[in-house]
Amino acid sequence: MSETKIRIRDNGPFLVEGPVTLEDSEGNSYTIDKPTIALCRCGESDNKPFCDGKHKHCGFTSQERANAT
Ligand code: FES
Repeated sequence: MSETKIRIRDNGPFLVEGPVTLEDSEGNSYTIDKPTIALCRCGESDNKPFCDGKHKHCGFTSQERANAT
């Protein structure tokens, strides 16, 4: 069984690796033909919900860290 992994990029998108189904708010699925997708979290992409690289030029900053226990 494959595992899905989400990596948070500093000042950038969420990278989603592995089997995933992405649906819009009406339940329609996107066709995903890549092993990894990048989801926009800056809000500036012209290709939402996917990242198109605009985060590099819009001043978006975010550097979350998981709390180690
Ligand atoms: S995170 Fe890359 S365009 Fe928004």
